[in-house]
Amino acid sequence: MPYALITGASKGIGKELAISLAKRKYNLLLIARSENLLAELSKELQKKYGGSVYYKAIDLSSPDAAKEIVGWCNKGGYDINVLINNAGYGLHGAFEKLSLEEQLNMMALNMNAGVQLTYMILPILQKYSGKSYIMNIASTAAYQAVPYLAVYSATKSFVLSFTRALKQELKGSNVSVTCLSPGTVETHFMERAGMSKVQKIVKQADKFNMQADVVAEFGIKAMLQGKTEVIPGLANKVGAFSSRLLPKNMVEGVAKGLYSPEK
Ligand SMILES: NC(=O)c1ccc[n+]([C@@H]2O[C@H](COP(=O)([O-])OP(=O)(O)OC[C@H]3O[C@@H](n4cnc5c(N)ncnc54)[C@H](OP(=O)(O)O)[C@@H]3O)[C@@H](O)[C@H]2O)c1
Repeated sequence: MPYALITGASKGIGKELAISLAKRKYNLLLIARSENLLAELSKELQKKYGGSVYYKAIDLSSPDAAKEIVGWCNKGGYDINVLINNAGYGLHGAFEKLSLEEQLNMMALNMNAGVQLTYMILPILQKYSGKSYIMNIASTAAYQAVPYLAVYSATKSFVLSFTRALKQELKGSNVSVTCLSPGTVETHFMERAGMSKVQKIVKQADKFNMQADVVAEFGIKAMLQGKTEVIPGLANKVGAFSSRLLPKNMVEGVAKGLYSPEK
């Protein structure tokens, strides 16, 4: 079997994407910063599913990360036919109060890392003798501007738009491109974004939270079916669709109330 390269594979949705592909007998290349978690997961997946699993601990927000990863892949001679750009995080709070440096770092990870990896791995995917796949993880936040997640939601709109355009450019080639946009998923996301201390957000999320394994399996199926844009969960689908139909000012006003940092 060929290799699938997954970023942000140490935990959350990325870890479950790795498990879904391991179950399908894919060999895996796992990327994240936490070397101990990657080592543990690699060992576990090899033991349980029998494929080859290699990992690389690297900070993807650094400008040379993609180049280093591609060098590592070339050295290993891995036959890659799946690239999943999943690593990402959010930052919650008033734009002017959040650190500019952190917001720029989030932009580097959520947008630049995925574009760089896609650019550099695309020739490998195109050389593969069969069908190849790219899946980018956006969010339901890609479908509207979200006050207090202003830069995060903008990075996810970027991911969605980039993915759709690339899908069109690659039509007729052996490379299929999919955008997966989850709503709230029970992972480390809220904690890293600084949202887990705001009770009303936690309560709201609890109502709609999906499990990471369900979201990952949904995404992998959609990717292998060659779908372009998918949203797991009925409530999330309805939310994304209605945000297109309702006046933007209204939708953004509701989001402002929901995501305001006041407790
Ligand atoms: N959970 C949600 O509610 C939700 C909803 C919509 C979309 N999403 C999107 O889903 C994706 C996965 O998030 P998640 O919910 O699974 O969050 P998570 O549990 O925090 O996992 C994030 C993953 O990204 C990796 N990562 C973070 N910063 C990195 C960096 N600088 N370099 C390399 N790897 C890095 C983390 O590993 P290390 O910490 O080991 O580096 C981890 O493996 C993200 O793109 C997120 O925006 C999440």
